[in-house]
Amino acid sequence: MVKVDLQGAQPFFDAAGPDYAAAAEAHRLLASRAGAGGEFTGWLDLPQRVRDGELKRIVAAAQKIRRLGDALIVVGIGGSYLGARAAIELLQTPERQGCEALFLGTSLSPDVIAALTARLGDRDFCVNVISKSGGTLEPALGFRVAKQLLEQKYGRAGAKKRIFVTTDANRGVLHDASVAAGYEMFTVPDDVGGRFSVLSAVGLLPMAAAGIDVEQVVRCAIEALRELDLRSPENPAWQYAAARQNLYRQGRSIEILACYEPSFRFMAEWWKQLFGESEGKNGIGIFPASVEFNADLHSMGQYIQDGPRTLLETVVSFDAPLHDCAVPFELGDPDGLNYLAGRSFADVQRVAQRAVAAAHVAGGVPNIGVSAARRDEAGFAQLVCFFETACAISAYMSGVNPFDQPGVEAYKKNMFRMLRQP
Ligand code: PA5
Repeated sequence: MVKVDLQGAQPFFDAAGPDYAAAAEAHRLLASRAGAGGEFTGWLDLPQRVRDGELKRIVAAAQKIRRLGDALIVVGIGGSYLGARAAIELLQTPERQGCEALFLGTSLSPDVIAALTARLGDRDFCVNVISKSGGTLEPALGFRVAKQLLEQKYGRAGAKKRIFVTTDANRGVLHDASVAAGYEMFTVPDDVGGRFSVLSAVGLLPMAAAGIDVEQVVRCAIEALRELDLRSPENPAWQYAAARQNLYRQGRSIEILACYEPSFRFMAEWWKQLFGESEGKNGIGIFPASVEFNADLHSMGQYIQDGPRTLLETVVSFDAPLHDCAVPFELGDPDGLNYLAGRSFADVQRVAQRAVAAAHVAGGVPNIGVSAARRDEAGFAQLVCFFETACAISAYMSGVNPFDQPGVEAYKKNMFRMLRQP
């Protein structure tokens, strides 16, 4: 189970401290599905439903994708993209065997298309297009491009065997066109919003094609969600949600999510969407931002240490690294670093991390620690379930519907009008 450490936040709480009674009520609303947006709480038992439903077909399709080539173009945006990319980047290791995932549909830049085509070269590949609504412009155009690349290489019949579609079970342009074309299809459940959908085919199919053990992910997620149902201040989701809300009430309006593993970068992007879209509405909400340590200590470190005191910092870490090595000894000690020789890099990093946290707390930045055991399938599943549960509880505590995103429509209306959509 994920652990939360509130030691570095404690000095910044108000006299009342984290409001666990409010967290309990928010959790009751969530679990009873009686709160605002209750019809989109299907993610609470999504891993179990996937295991009973599409999981075997997802694993079989991934094996087929890997047999057919060594690259997969994954087309999607927002909740139909970030979870898969987060998992693939977090869990990628040199030992893992799988397709290279190439992402399309998050931008309209022609340069991105050129770069993807060049990266693909003459390799064999498949395409997984993911869109719940089936009508989002960026991935819809991306899919046109990817389909054309496939048809040029394999002809229409050959391309058909290499296209995998993840969309609504019954409706939408993509659904209807895919049924007509006879593509293999997977489902985004009706009761799960995009940003909560990573543990459905949306995330699991690209993850499996990239060589991630999705059966293990699903197994661990079922277990994690069961543990996160605990109704007690011992629940790490309550601790995180209640701490954030306490700090927000005192003007901590920006949360930076930090991690010392560069492979965490897209987990942070996924987290930003999860919290930003769920909480930022009705004129309130913590602004989610992210930093990558140690790199950003040398760029954003000054602001964090010494800028306006509106920040709170959440640091994600893994108890044990996947690999470790010792600092080499060098004869003559030309750079003066032999005092570290023989010490493991993991150990040096742990010390650096403690030093940074102490400095930031002393500089007036509350520090919340979130840790998982390892950067593996179990750690990924636990972090996803933890953040999803904490996010819903935190949003209910602040009085907003965690599951809608009315603000996202505004730009689309303008864009379609200006593009003269018929
Ligand atoms: O969380 C959300 O609802 C959004 O980020 C959507 O996932 C995103 O807009 C993509 O939508 P769709 O899957 O319908 O193409």
